[in-house]
Amino acid sequence: MKVTVINGTEKKGITYKMKELFLEQLKDKADITEFYLPKDCPSFCSGCTTCFLKDEHKCKDRQYIEKIENALLTADLLVFTSPSYVCHVTGAMKAMLDHFGYRWMPHRPAKEMFGKRAVIITQCLGAGGRSSAKDIKDSLSWWGISDIRIISFKLLSDIDWNKIPGKRKAAFTRKLYNKADRLKKIDFTKPARTGLSARIKFYMVRLMQTGLGKKDPEYTDYKYWKQNGWLDNVRPWKSS
Ligand SMILES: Cc1cc2nc3c(=O)[nH]c(=O)nc-3n(C[C@H](O)[C@H](O)[C@H](O)COP(=O)(O)O)c2cc1C
Repeated sequence: MKVTVINGTEKKGITYKMKELFLEQLKDKADITEFYLPKDCPSFCSGCTTCFLKDEHKCKDRQYIEKIENALLTADLLVFTSPSYVCHVTGAMKAMLDHFGYRWMPHRPAKEMFGKRAVIITQCLGAGGRSSAKDIKDSLSWWGISDIRIISFKLLSDIDWNKIPGKRKAAFTRKLYNKADRLKKIDFTKPARTGLSARIKFYMVRLMQTGLGKKDPEYTDYKYWKQNGWLDNVRPWKSS
């Protein structure tokens, strides 16, 4: 099983510790590739819209995006982690996700995403763990992923893992082990089921693309949908 991890911070703090505990349970089964932000995607989207309107390969940051995208597309399980910064993901995580705006369903989603599974791990001191997870989930669900699990922590006690009382640590560790254990039981040779929400999104966008194509048959997103056969009978969640 292939796992790709996107770490929303380079800091080896509590979020890192949580993620390590989680991965520890999968290590015997998994081939793991990790990215650390901002190091592995250091630039912001400049809003040039070249990816949306022309070609994603012409993005000024393509060298970084391509590596991450290849790892995302070839993995069976995606893991995203972020501490909560002012109730949201880190700026580095948001900057990386912005670069994948062109992969949102209304544009050019990758068919591989429809069968994928993902886990989001967030950590906060008091508030914001859930809203930070939602920042990531919004992108993943609009990329077409249906099986998204959230593990959100609220470590009220301390910012230093070593100073957190043993009992609390044990409780968090159990939670991570349980989640990882459940994943171990999944047969990753079979893709995840595409849920109703992803299908509704797909059919809404399909209608939109049909209309856009009538106005401009050369429109980049329309041509992509047409070439994939999605405006006919092909569906990204069905193997051809
Ligand atoms: C810029 C910044 C903003 C933060 N905002 C929040 C917040 O909104 N809510 C919260 O509970 N903790 C907040 N925190 C605390 C971190 O989420 C918390 O310390 C977390 O454990 C850091 O994880 P790390 O050790 O992996 O870096 C913030 C920390 C920083 C540096």
